Amino acid sequence: MTTLQRAEAAEHALSQELDQVVVKSVIYTSGERDPRVAMPRPADQGKRYLMADDPRLPKMPAKPTLLDFFRYRFGPSAHLLQSARLAQKNGVDEKIVLACLLHDIAIAGFIRSDHGYWSAQLLESYVDPEVSWAIRYHQALRFFPDEANGYRYPELYTKLFGEDYVPEPYIQESYRHARDHKWYMSSRLITINDLYAFDPSVQVELEEFTDVVGRHFKQPAEGLGFDQSPSAHMWRTINWPTRYL
Ligand SMILES: [Fe+2]
Ligand SMILES: [Fe+2]
Repeated sequence: MTTLQRAEAAEHALSQELDQVVVKSVIYTSGERDPRVAMPRPADQGKRYLMADDPRLPKMPAKPTLLDFFRYRFGPSAHLLQSARLAQKNGVDEKIVLACLLHDIAIAGFIRSDHGYWSAQLLESYVDPEVSWAIRYHQALRFFPDEANGYRYPELYTKLFGEDYVPEPYIQESYRHARDHKWYMSSRLITINDLYAFDPSVQVELEEFTDVVGRHFKQPAEGLGFDQSPSAHMWRTINWPTRYL
């Protein structure tokens, strides 16, 4: 058996224990497997397909808040917390502290590829437009140094992507657009405080930012995902990542 086959067998065994059948979205496995090949259907043995909470995940409150998503659905967020604390230490505007706290939430809990755009879209309905704008463009700005403002091309990127990596034309276009925009510095400040080598000895608690979030994030009364905003469905998908439909 290949590693992938072994992983699939283990997963199959695990799903057998569930009362409902769980089917994965194409994007979860695209690349690991060829998305054009029909996904083998799990033997459902008369079981229903999951259309509710995934029993393998911690239960979310009925009206989830942004901090509930951090607690129950996002991966480890030390990078975000440490970036926000650094921004605070550097004395930036509180709005930018919030931007630093949220700049990579797509990586933390949704989709990694094009994370700046996804993060911005998740947040757009709930934050000042300058905050989501800054988050959208930080992805592109990370690839372009601005030494006059204290931002150098990250050594980590050279290590991760190689000396010869050249950002794709859409990233270069985004950069040019951002460079000439009145909010350029807000986005640049995210990159300046974007710690790429975080310190495992520094503990930052999410609760330190409760007030910043309270002041600058418009938490919908119905709960994130249930408020009919243009990105509510994205929050619902993070809440219920394995629903059949
Ligand atoms: Fe980022
Ligand atoms: Fe980051």
